[in-house]
Amino acid sequence: MARNEFSRREFVHTAIGAGVGLGASALVGVHAQANRTVKIGLIGCGGRGQGAAQGALDAAKVMGLTVQIVAVADYFKDRAVGAGQRFGVPPERCFGGANGYKDLLQTDAEAVLMAEPPLFRPPHLEAAIAAGKHAFIEKPVAVDPPGCRRVIAAGEEAKRKGLVVISGTEMRHEWPYINTHQAVAVEGALGKLHGGRVSFCIGHMFRDRPIEPKTADDLVASWQNWLCLSGDHLVEQHVHNIDIANWFCGKPPVSAVGFGGRARRNAGDMYDFFSVDYDYGDGVHIHSMCRQVNGCWNWVGHDFVYEKGHTNGADGPAPQQSPIPADLPQGEASHIQEQIDLLYHITKGQPTDQARAVTESTATAVMGRIAAYTGQQVLWDEIMGDPNRKPELYNLTLKPTAEDFENGTVGIPQENVLPRAGS
Ligand SMILES: NC(=O)c1ccc[n+]([C@@H]2O[C@H](COP(=O)([O-])OP(=O)(O)OC[C@H]3O[C@@H](n4cnc5c(N)ncnc54)[C@H](O)[C@@H]3O)[C@@H](O)[C@H]2O)c1
Repeated sequence: MARNEFSRREFVHTAIGAGVGLGASALVGVHAQANRTVKIGLIGCGGRGQGAAQGALDAAKVMGLTVQIVAVADYFKDRAVGAGQRFGVPPERCFGGANGYKDLLQTDAEAVLMAEPPLFRPPHLEAAIAAGKHAFIEKPVAVDPPGCRRVIAAGEEAKRKGLVVISGTEMRHEWPYINTHQAVAVEGALGKLHGGRVSFCIGHMFRDRPIEPKTADDLVASWQNWLCLSGDHLVEQHVHNIDIANWFCGKPPVSAVGFGGRARRNAGDMYDFFSVDYDYGDGVHIHSMCRQVNGCWNWVGHDFVYEKGHTNGADGPAPQQSPIPADLPQGEASHIQEQIDLLYHITKGQPTDQARAVTESTATAVMGRIAAYTGQQVLWDEIMGDPNRKPELYNLTLKPTAEDFENGTVGIPQENVLPRAGS
């Protein structure tokens, strides 16, 4: 399938998740499912995971369905039990440990919400699809190129099995973005795209005193500070904006060059600033920057420059033709709307794969990180396309791996030792 065909279809599926206003008659299709109960399991019971579970309960109310949280799993059993108490899950269905997700997948949960650290998403999604579950996957979905390819393959397998995979790249579930994308990127209202910039520059985040981890548990408890678990903040956080760049460009970039480093952070093994130039081909470049340092200029957003004007991705002209299906319930906030998208597709029996788009955005961020860490230009083809071009990048696997956590073979990374570009 040509890239543009995929993007268009992906857009329509994503647009379904955004929702528009509609009359009561348009809800008939969904209300026909009113007696339907969707049983859901939650993997990763932290802030976002519990938010996603609550979002699913709220989405069910909008849709006139019933959602039941039937099982929860967290690396730390007490967190699973705490979430279980909140959502009415009996203690015997609250699973702990790095292998707890396997127990959850043996329950009658029909769909699984995944909000554990991104390192674990590839094996967890693979196992969920193998177990025949629909999935909601938080961003980012991996930390290295092999992990990205595993998620794309799992999405393809989901399609073959008629399963739904919805991603947590929430701006793709927001109507102003979908509206603007339709008008500008699909219908060409502003003419040709010349270039743009995307940014996630904010203040200091996460712990700043050394963590001095001794065990795997110490690493998991402070996961946002470790490259192997989070992918660095360019991947973990800025992927949101990179995803918008890929969406508006209609494809991932051809290559990346960039730099980064650490200005202030004193814990973990990640940088705290990056600046990356993404080349999308045909002369189109998007500058990506992200920083987590106090006392600096901050901006989280996008700016795309077209032949006849520019847009922040959400303020464009109205589209000529809405891509939204008539029977889609109007959503609330994006974190509820993405759950409406999940339930809509499950109850309609419409398989959909949002794994590819979020994974391509994750891989784009990984490519920028590798470019900054090494000081070299990195090609998309080297990390995602051709296994023989640069096998050291194509097969680059961060350690410890998800399987190390499951098998108890975790090596502790050196704290405050960072990649240094150049010689
Ligand atoms: N889309 C958004 O707006 C948004 C916002 C915040 C976070 N996120 C993403 O959601 C994910 C979780 O972030 P968070 O803020 O909830 O972090 P968190 O630390 O609050 O929660 C993560 C939970 O996962 C658990 N966990 C760790 N390893 C696990 C494993 N192997 N199996 C099961 N559980 C495991 C942790 O113990 C923790 O309870 C991340 O990927 C993050 O990037 C997305």
